[in-house]
Amino acid sequence: MTDNNQMDILFQEAQKIAEMAYAPYSMFRVGAALLCEDGKIITGVNVENRSFGLTVCAERNAICTAIALGYRRFTALAVSTPDSEKPTGPCGACRQVLSEFMASGSPVRFAGKGQDTVNTSIGELYPYDSLHELMH
Ligand code: THU
Repeated sequence: MTDNNQMDILFQEAQKIAEMAYAPYSMFRVGAALLCEDGKIITGVNVENRSFGLTVCAERNAICTAIALGYRRFTALAVSTPDSEKPTGPCGACRQVLSEFMASGSPVRFAGKGQDTVNTSIGELYPYDSLHELMH
């Protein structure tokens, strides 16, 4: 079970890594932090490209790093968008990819630079998931 303290730490890691984002086109930096089952935190940032469609979001970069390190299940996610006042949640593509590796009840926290913080779950962000029908 992920407690509030763990979510605070996870969000701090997302905030820290957001500084490393490569976002010269949108000027919108994103940092993502995934919590692994053994307590390890794996982070990612958005990496943009002059061919805009090649941009990869922070959440999917974190997932790809984690998979390459041998992690397959994540118990929580935090996303920091320091260039927006309001919280900005993961995009639709990232919601689908995240749901491949996270249980629907897994907590998700996201916030911008303002006071508002959203605390939700993968299942709320991506309901009626088909994965359980497809996995064997
Ligand atoms: N972005 C993310 O990194 N994650 C999301 O879930 C939404 C969007 C990035 C992509 C692009 O570099 C910038 O934010 C503006 O859309």
